Amino acid sequence: MFRTALCDLLGIEHPILQSGMGNIAGPDLVAEVSSAGGLGILAGLNVPPDVLRDGIREVRKRTSRPFGVNLWLHETVESPVDVATIPDTTVAGAQRELNRYRERLGIPTTSARPATLPALLPSAIDVILEERVPVFSTALVRHHHAELVQRCHARGVKVVTMVTTVDAARAAAASGVDVIVAQGGEAGGHRSVGDKPASAEAVGIGTMALVPQIVDAVQVPVVAAGGIADGRGLVAALALGATGVLLGTRFVASREATVPEFWKKALLEHESDATAITDVFTGLWARALRNTMSEEYRTSGAPVLPPLVQRAAAFDVYAASAKQQNREYYPMFSGQSVGLIHDLPGAGEVVATIMREAQDVLAALPRRANRG
Ligand SMILES: Cc1cc2nc3c(=O)[nH]c(=O)nc-3n(C[C@H](O)[C@H](O)[C@H](O)COP(=O)(O)O)c2cc1C
Repeated sequence: MFRTALCDLLGIEHPILQSGMGNIAGPDLVAEVSSAGGLGILAGLNVPPDVLRDGIREVRKRTSRPFGVNLWLHETVESPVDVATIPDTTVAGAQRELNRYRERLGIPTTSARPATLPALLPSAIDVILEERVPVFSTALVRHHHAELVQRCHARGVKVVTMVTTVDAARAAAASGVDVIVAQGGEAGGHRSVGDKPASAEAVGIGTMALVPQIVDAVQVPVVAAGGIADGRGLVAALALGATGVLLGTRFVASREATVPEFWKKALLEHESDATAITDVFTGLWARALRNTMSEEYRTSGAPVLPPLVQRAAAFDVYAASAKQQNREYYPMFSGQSVGLIHDLPGAGEVVATIMREAQDVLAALPRRANRG
């Protein structure tokens, strides 16, 4: 029952994928998850090509099992925003708000225009293909290109892509991808869409409603993401027709995740109602734990800079916040599954525990369903 079509397709033992979370999913986490029989996915966003290649080789030193690399194919990753096009008043308004946090953190204030980001995407894709990484995981995809999928397949690279709507799932399937991840609104981190919708509410179909619709709409295996952190979630996802699950928040709360300790501690302390969708951290909609920065920025009415430029502008704030172990000015991306997390085990243990729990849940299902 738990050895699904996804396991056969990707050559993994358990139908559990670990999200390739930017700055968090390094070789330690990835190798640990893959060694435990799941699919570890290395973060590739904003990683210079040489560093990405080293990371891939490091994973290979530690495990012979399949693993993946994740990239965003967002319009502003394909073509970074030219910061010269941002009006002076917008830059000034955003920096004025960020300066309030800089003053509290005791770091220099600035009114400077952030630099235009380098276009790293083509070289990152080249590295993935040259290294013949087993799985290329894509998210925030602007255009589902058949040509890119064909290039991957020609190198023996499988493509797993994450979507938030049935239409996007159909477009992804038409491009030839091997697996589709259905990301429900409960999910932590960024909404997996290729542009920026006008409001956070525009991308919010829940996992429970989204997964079966995508399962009905496409022929390829579907993986459920968003709100899943234990064996109950895995069994529920399989009942909806998914062939596996992809988890982010659960793996942030693991020993190998490279995040500040205060973030892991916050995951243990908070319930699901502590998260909200905001664009103040990166300029794109993402679900994160609410903190002073997310709340004050929103209520201030200060402008938010374009996608990823906002992140670049606030980077010194995040660095100081991390250094000072101050959780109030740091983006702690997290899903509603935070309320299900009560421990900080090793990532391999997370995989083993979910599989064990799923067996127990399934065995107890008839009895539980009849509990008066
Ligand atoms: C801290 C964090 C960072 C994330 N970064 C990425 C990323 O870089 N690329 C990506 O495809 N998805 C990323 N995600 C989203 C996950 O792929 C997935 O949709 C989500 O974690 C599922 O919901 P969950 O957090 O409840 O498990 C991230 C999620 C979190 C929590």
